[in-house]
Amino acid sequence: MKICTMTASDISAVSQLEAASFSTPWSENSIRSELENPWAIWLVARDDATLAGYIGVQYGPDGGDILTIATDPACRGRGVAKALILHMVQLLREKDLSWLTLEVRPSNHAALSLYESMGFRQVGRRKNYYRSPVEDALLLTLYFKEDGSC
Ligand SMILES: CC(C)(COP(=O)(O)OP(=O)(O)OC[C@H]1O[C@@H](n2cnc3c(N)ncnc32)[C@H](O)[C@@H]1OP(=O)(O)O)[C@@H](O)C(=O)NCCC(=O)NCCS
Repeated sequence: MKICTMTASDISAVSQLEAASFSTPWSENSIRSELENPWAIWLVARDDATLAGYIGVQYGPDGGDILTIATDPACRGRGVAKALILHMVQLLREKDLSWLTLEVRPSNHAALSLYESMGFRQVGRRKNYYRSPVEDALLLTLYFKEDGSC
């Protein structure tokens, strides 16, 4: 598996996986415009030419926020999402940023296990944040350690 910066040629495959993974997915146009945002980083994981997963992050002067992340169902449980997050953390560290945050549904056990196993900690809860179905969001943050570990 190889992790690369996402390009315009990945947009179609990424939006298909996004639509298959979320009830309120990012549209192809929104993904295209975020890809052009200078304050965003998008990475894809590829198995040969096939898209295995992707992550999009928006960042500011101090830290980043995961916009979306998903792994193709056929590739889940093989460390794809973890590798994407670790690669992203490395890129954010190189920009002297010190944290990465995200929202997640409390019912999304796979994602919660992934984030908790990587050291993300709950820092808040947003009431009725999600639609389809309506659900709170847990706000999790990973503070990067000084010694370079996660
Ligand atoms: C959540 C998601 C991104 C995980 O992707 P993945 O590539 O399968 O995850 P990884 O293989 O990197 O998993 C790393 C760790 O996360 C945890 N984990 C991942 N999937 C899990 C599951 N189904 N059940 C329990 N733990 C899980 C485990 O701790 C795993 O480590 P291990 O394999 O050594 O036990 C994937 O299930 C997905 O795309 N879901 C739909 C989209 C989504 O919910 N995105 C997150 C929105 S907040």
